[in-house]
Amino acid sequence: MRVISTVIELDNLIEETNLIPLGFVPTMGALHEGHLALVNIAIKKCPLVVVSIFVNPTQFNDKNDLKNYPRTIDSDLALLGTVLRQTDIVFTPDEKEIYPQEDTRKFLFGNLDNVMEALHRPGHFNGVAQVVSRFFELVKPDIAVFGLKDFQQLTVIKNLVGQTNNKVKIIPCPIVREKDGLAMSSRNRLLDKEIRNHAPVIYKTLSAASVMAGKYDIPEIVSFVEKSINNIPGFSLEYFEVVDDSELIPVRKKEDIKPDRQYYGCIAVKAGKIRLIDNINIAFD
Ligand code: PAJ
Repeated sequence: MRVISTVIELDNLIEETNLIPLGFVPTMGALHEGHLALVNIAIKKCPLVVVSIFVNPTQFNDKNDLKNYPRTIDSDLALLGTVLRQTDIVFTPDEKEIYPQEDTRKFLFGNLDNVMEALHRPGHFNGVAQVVSRFFELVKPDIAVFGLKDFQQLTVIKNLVGQTNNKVKIIPCPIVREKDGLAMSSRNRLLDKEIRNHAPVIYKTLSAASVMAGKYDIPEIVSFVEKSINNIPGFSLEYFEVVDDSELIPVRKKEDIKPDRQYYGCIAVKAGKIRLIDNINIAFD
């Protein structure tokens, strides 16, 4: 693999290599098996893959979160070295390369930017849209892979691509979990030991909620999720919403379920000082 950090090098390498389709996997580093699953999808579909590592300041509404975000470039490169091919590119720009001037663009996502993560992290998706659209301009990928772990982000990105008439095809990657069910996340390494030991409760609760959907109505499922999470010392539920996969409209009762849509139970939990998110597909029939 070739590791570069400037836009000029990126342009030159992509032009010189001249292989299509071009696959792209944006990341903020602190890489784990979940990220590698995205990279492997891109590798299978594309003879040339660009992986970016950039902790994007504009998507952090909490300055402490930005400061504490894990930065592990050496082990990230070692991990990528196990899957990337000789010609694939790792792009590790600094802030000036991505934002030569301040990015003041405002994106509109309607309801997608009015629920769940958007309410708890104001401005977050605008920052994600800024950096991802900038990367799309620079890399010009044919295919870009995003994880279902960040379900709302994936929905926002699909909407962004539609709005900007970009030709890039967005490919979703299923959630990769630890053996005990905890969704892999760069933030997991920030969990205290005791909190980490109890963290599988999140996926256990989601799995039970999805089973309950056969028999119970949504308010009962929500109340089960609240109790199941809030019962664990150090854990508190921020939200649990059942939403459709296109408009992310929260469903309050089973009557409102539309047969032609997919539904997801999305959760955010404060685990000690760390915020964790996860989701599960819920079938209501
Ligand atoms: P980051 O959190 O590093 O995640 C990069 C990509 O990996 C995202 O598409 C995310 O959904 C996916 N991912 C993370 N953990 C995963 C898991 N356990 N299973 C499957 N996929 C997983 O998401 C971002 O960075 C940023 O917002 C970014 C899109 C790079 C823009 O800055």
